[in-house]
Amino acid sequence: MIKAFVIGHPIAHSRSPLIHGTWLKTYGIDGSYEAIDVAPEQLGDLFERLRSGEFAGGNVTIPLKEAVFSRCDSVDPLAETIGAVNTLVARDGRVHGLNTDFMGFLDNLDQQAPGWSTGLGSAIVLGAGGAARAILVALRQRGIGTINLLNRTPHKAEFLARSLGGIAPGPLSSFATLAPGAGLVINTTSVGMHGTGFPDLPLARLPPTALVTDIVYVPLETPLLAQARRRGLRTVDGLGMLLHQAVPGFTAWFGVKPAVTPELRRTIEATL
Ligand code: ATR
Repeated sequence: MIKAFVIGHPIAHSRSPLIHGTWLKTYGIDGSYEAIDVAPEQLGDLFERLRSGEFAGGNVTIPLKEAVFSRCDSVDPLAETIGAVNTLVARDGRVHGLNTDFMGFLDNLDQQAPGWSTGLGSAIVLGAGGAARAILVALRQRGIGTINLLNRTPHKAEFLARSLGGIAPGPLSSFATLAPGAGLVINTTSVGMHGTGFPDLPLARLPPTALVTDIVYVPLETPLLAQARRRGLRTVDGLGMLLHQAVPGFTAWFGVKPAVTPELRRTIEATL
C-alpha cells in the first residue's frame, strides 16, 4: 500500500485527508493519506521515515512550509523562488520539495474564469505574507503587465516586491487610485475569516469587468467576495485553489492525475 500524509501543527482542521481520501476511493487505489501532527522539532524524525520509504510523500502546512525547505535533498526551482515547500515527494531515499500553490492558483482561475489573464493589464494583490509569494510568482509567470502589491504594513510589501522583482508595492490606501485600471483583485491575507473584512476598500472604483478572488475559503463567500458580487463583479472563491493545489502531489505519489470535479467540490463544501 502506498502511504502519504499531511503534516502541520495543529493539523486537525485540514481538509486534505478528505480530498485525497475521496480520490483514492474514486480511482480504486490501494493507498492511504493521513493527517500527522508534527511540531517543527519533530521534522527530523519525519524526514527519516520519508527517506526509509515508509511514505511516498506528503503535504506540508502551517507552520512548517519554510522549515521543511532546508531539510529537502532537492527543491524545485519554482519552490525556491517562492521560498516555501508545501509538497514532499520521496524517491530512492531522497526527498524532493515542490510548491503546488502556484499551480493551484492558476489552475483554479483557468477552470473557474477561463481566459482571465488574456489582455489583463494590471492586478492588485492584497497582503504580503507567505501566501502572497506563490501568487505573485504565478502572476508574473503569466506575464501580467503590472502587479500592484498592497499591504496594511507597507514596508513588508516593499520587502517582498524587492525580493521578487517586477512588482509595485504600496499601502492599502492606494487601492482607490489603482482600482480603475485593475482587472483582477486577489486577497491573500487572512482577512475574511471569522467575519472580518477590509473596512475601506472601494470596489466600486474597479471596472465592471474586473474579477475578484480570495484564498480564504471559510467562509466560502467572504465579505470581500460578497461585496464584489453585489457590485456585479465576477468572483472566484478560495476552495478551488485548495483542490487544485492537491493535484500534483496525488499524481506524484499515487501515479494517477486526479480531476477536480463538481462532486469533489460539493464533498468538501459540505464540511465547511
Ligand atoms: P501567511 O504567511 O499565512 O500569509 P502572515 O505572514 O501572517 O500569514 O501574513 C498575513 C497577511 O495578512 C499580511 O499581509 C498581513 O498584513 P501585515 O503585514 O500588515 O500584518 C495581512 N493581514 C492580517 N490581518 C489583517 C487585517 N486585519 N487587515 C489587513 N491586513 C491583514
